[in-house]
Parts: sequence; structure tokens; C-alpha cells
Amino acid sequence: LGMKRLLVVSNRLPVTIDKKQGEYIFKESVGGLVSGFSAYFNSLQNTAFTEKDSVWIGWPGLSVEMSDQPAIRERLSKEFGAFPVFLDEATMDKFYLGFCNKTIWPLFHYFFSLTKFEDDLWEQYVAVNKVFCDAVCQIARPDDVIWIHDYHLMLLPEMLRQRMPDVPIGFFLHIPFPDYEIFRLLPRRWGAAIMEGLLGADLIGFHTIDYTQHFLNSVARILGLAHALGRVRIGERTVRVDTFPMGIDFAKYHETAKQPRVIRESERLRRMLGDRKIILSVDRLDYTKGIANRLEAFALFLEQNPHWQEKVTLALVVVPSRVGVDQYQSMKRNIDETVGRINGRFGTLRWVPIVYQYRYLPLSPLVALYSASDVALITPLRDGMNLVAKEYVAAKADNQGVLILSEMAGAAKELDQAIMVNPNSIEEIAGSIKEALEMPEHEQQRRNQGMQVLLAKYDVIRWADLFIKQLLGMRESERKAA
Ligand code: UDP
Ligand code: G6P
Repeated sequence: LGMKRLLVVSNRLPVTIDKKQGEYIFKESVGGLVSGFSAYFNSLQNTAFTEKDSVWIGWPGLSVEMSDQPAIRERLSKEFGAFPVFLDEATMDKFYLGFCNKTIWPLFHYFFSLTKFEDDLWEQYVAVNKVFCDAVCQIARPDDVIWIHDYHLMLLPEMLRQRMPDVPIGFFLHIPFPDYEIFRLLPRRWGAAIMEGLLGADLIGFHTIDYTQHFLNSVARILGLAHALGRVRIGERTVRVDTFPMGIDFAKYHETAKQPRVIRESERLRRMLGDRKIILSVDRLDYTKGIANRLEAFALFLEQNPHWQEKVTLALVVVPSRVGVDQYQSMKRNIDETVGRINGRFGTLRWVPIVYQYRYLPLSPLVALYSASDVALITPLRDGMNLVAKEYVAAKADNQGVLILSEMAGAAKELDQAIMVNPNSIEEIAGSIKEALEMPEHEQQRRNQGMQVLLAKYDVIRWADLFIKQLLGMRESERKAA
């Protein structure tokens, strides 16, 4: 298939720029797309199909003054292989905080009542997809391969197809694709444009078989296009739609957990928390993550099992996210209040039931926490995949530890040795906490070993290679057929 230069396109770049006291600072971006895909992007020289001088195109997370743009562009390119798409605040209000995170995000996660349907948000979505199209065209070469990521850019594949008919274009959705009955709630005009936009790609990938089926079903119902074995014929082209559950950089988490400094940190954490059992909860602050139910379930567990009081601590990490969207702000207040209430009710002079941090943790402290925790309590109401669940299992170098996982997370399809819970049932979650804390060690080991084999085999490099191989293979077979 030959080596190709890869152009990765996503709304968010792997680095996010912030401005403090007039100075620009560069930080790692937050979220599964970036943390997962960066592992692949940073190892491109070792992969099968793509060259190392590849480029990541996206928004740097801040509106940068015109006069500062050239310097920022140069630094991003040199240090990160990134090509920024600069967008002003007013545009991002309607595009990112608007259509992306008040329309698509809630709807695709089945939060219909939080979904806004506003024409001017839609128009800005179309406009920003065009801006991304221009940016890609500025640097693309005919022999590149283009891989577009996530719900912010669903119109981009078709826009690019118009401009560069022969370039291989792949698209991967990192969030759920909802059932047709949910998708059809979008005005037909928008829904059809999104379907046609996505079908501009040669290959469209989803995390689970269900999301793939939902998409194909919507294509049939909305555009009247039939599909056979995941292939859709549109005009003269064939589009392949397939399932690629995203993996993690298994070796990174597994090996980091074995580093002496991380082991020391993990032991220090355990001592600091009084050598009690530790239950871990880590997510971006997001209403899809089910944090409120999880806290209530922990309280119910303490109430139902008084002998566990003072013997277990919930380590709650909440990562700031999308602070410009109202729901996220009100949720922050709710969490603060609930944590205070539960700690006030059960806490004693010797024991704080919930230890709460509202911040982003870099790799080593995060892995130290994974490795120190006896239980990971991961109960999203909906989640495209959930990489934290996979990372927790990978970081268990000694195979001790129990994963409690929501059946509404894409990861549940693969991590079948976890204790599965329905995240809407506080009783069920409370019961699972007890089960996890009391699970015999050999049983924990048996479950984690099984899951680690799978995670090591289908890691993120393999995931991306399979996707790219299929994308390039598609073009090859089309060429032969022509
Ligand atoms: N993460 C991190 N530091 C934190 C919390 C999370 O680096 O303090 C990373 C975590 O390792 C994972 C990603 O953020 O790779 C979250 O991905 P996930 O798929 O679980 O959820 P998303 O945020 O994409 O909805
Ligand atoms: C999820 C989405 C990503 C997004 C991330 C963080 O993982 O799938 O596309 O980048 O959340 O959200 P943010 O809005 O900060 O980019």
C-alpha cells in the first residue's frame, strides 16, 4: 500500500493554548480522542502505513489575536506537528459551545431534553466545517490520506470530497451514533446533510456494532440508500461502514504502573488515605458520566453497610470541561454540594468518605491512582467508549482490582469481565460496590488477566492500523474495479 502522509483532522488539537497574564501557555488537551489518538500520532514512524511527517489539523482551544497567529502557528508546527485552525470567540460560541455541545452531544448521548434546535447554531456548524475544509485544502497533497475525527466535523468529508475527489478520506466517530428514533429528532434538512456529509468519506468507523447499525439504519431511512454488508453505494462511489472499537496504549499504562516512582506514589496515596480500601472515580465533568448517581450510590452503600464506614474512601477526580456550557456549570455546583452533604453526613474526625479533586491529572499521578485503587467505579449514563475503564485494567500490573462498569459504555462490549451495572439504578450500583469490595483476590486476578490479554492485543496502534489499512485497501480495490 506504500507509505502515506497522514492528515489528522479534529476540532481539538492535542495541545490546548491558554493565556495567563498576557503569556500563551501550551497544555495537553483533555479527553479520550486526544489521549487515545496521540499515542498513535506520536509513534507514526513505527507504524505500517503512515509517515512520521504527518500533520494534525485543529482548533487550538483559544481565540488568538491576529498579530500573534504566525508565531503560534510556527510553534505548533515545530513542536507538535500541528496546524491550527484559528476561530474567533463569537464563532466558537455558536459552533463549539452551540451546535456541537448543545445539539449533537446531548442528542447523540440520548439527552433529548437538553438538546437545542436552533437554526443559527446549525448555520455556524456548516460555516465552520467549511473553514476546516479550506484549512485542509491549504496543506493537503494528492497522495495524502485524510482521517477526520468526531462529531464536530461531520460535514467535512463531503466538502473535502468535492475539492479533492481522489484523496482517501476516513471518518471516525468517537461518541455513540444514536438509534434512528433519536437521530430523526433533528430537522430533516440537518439530518440529511449530516448523512451526506459523512458519506463523503470512503470509510466511516464507529466504536460498536450497535452504533454502526444505527448509522446504516438512518442512512436507509433518511436518504433511502440501501446497504449490503456494511457497504453503501452513493452515486458512483462505494462507502464502507464498519466497527473499530478504539484501544488504548496498553504498554504505556502497564509499564508506567511498574515504574518505581509510580509505585512509591501509589503507596504514598494509600498511606495518606489511611490504608483504607480506595474506590476510584475519574471523568471529565459531564452530565453523560453519571457522577451524581454514583455519589448517591456510594452514600446508599455506606448506609446499607455500616461496617464499611471508616474503611473505604471514594477518590473522586473531576476534570474541568466545557465550562462555557450552562449545564456543565450547574453540574459543578451540584457535585460540590452533594460531596459536602455526604461527607457531612458520614464523615468523622478520622475519616473523610469522599476525597474530591476538581482538576486534570497528568499521566504518572493518574496511573498511581489507578494502581492504588481497589475498585474503579465507572458508571456513565451513555459513553461512546470510555477509555478510563480500559486504562484502569491495563494499569493493574499485579492484576488486583475490580472494575465496575456501566452497560451503557461502549467499553462494556469488550470488558465483559467487569461487574456490569445499570447506571440509572442507584441500588444496583450500591450493590456492585459491596460485591467489588468483597471479591476474592483470585477472582479479581482471573478477571483482569482475561481483559488484559484483549487490551494488549487490540491496542490503539492496532486500531489505527486496521482502520488505515481498510481505508487504503478500499481505494485500491475501487481502482482495480475501475
Ligand atoms: N484523563 C487524564 N487525566 C485526568 C482524567 C482523564 O489524562 O485527570 C484522560 C484519561 O486517561 C483518558 C481520557 O482522559 O484517556 C478520558 O477519555 P474517556 O474515553 O474515558 O472519556 P472522554 O473524556 O473522552 O469522554
Ligand atoms: C470527548 C469527545 C472529543 C473531545 C473530548 C473533550 O472525548 O469525543 O471530541 O475532544 O470529549 O471535550 P472538548 O469539548 O474539551 O474538546
